[in-house]
Amino acid sequence: MQAPSPLELEDAPAGPPKGTLLARLEDLPPHGGKELVFRDGTMVLRLIVQRTGYASAVVYENRCPHAGTPLNMFDDKFLDITGRRLICRTHGALFETDSGKCVRGPCKGDYLRPVAVTIEDGVIYSA
Ligand code: FES
Repeated sequence: MQAPSPLELEDAPAGPPKGTLLARLEDLPPHGGKELVFRDGTMVLRLIVQRTGYASAVVYENRCPHAGTPLNMFDDKFLDITGRRLICRTHGALFETDSGKCVRGPCKGDYLRPVAVTIEDGVIYSA
């Protein structure tokens, strides 16, 4: 299975326009994760922001490829106990942080949908 093309948020239902400030790396909590939720009427778009280094982060649609649920259940924590992979709390699928590829669980080989972003001076913008 191939990684999906990055989601351009301005083309997504409830997505913000290109160039929208999504997060500042310095504002992310110590565990580095943050859920962003955009709403437009009944449309809802959930994103995962996960810091991966001093000046780096990944952004994915917060939708598990297995059953379509958000990976998190009630907070901004997306990492497993090792702190190296993203975990879906519904059935336990594990995803490589950098690629979004599921490496263990019911959707093994499938991918989280990446989001098109740019990171400039520690700020993440939709691209
Ligand atoms: S919905 Fe994520 S592993 Fe089943």
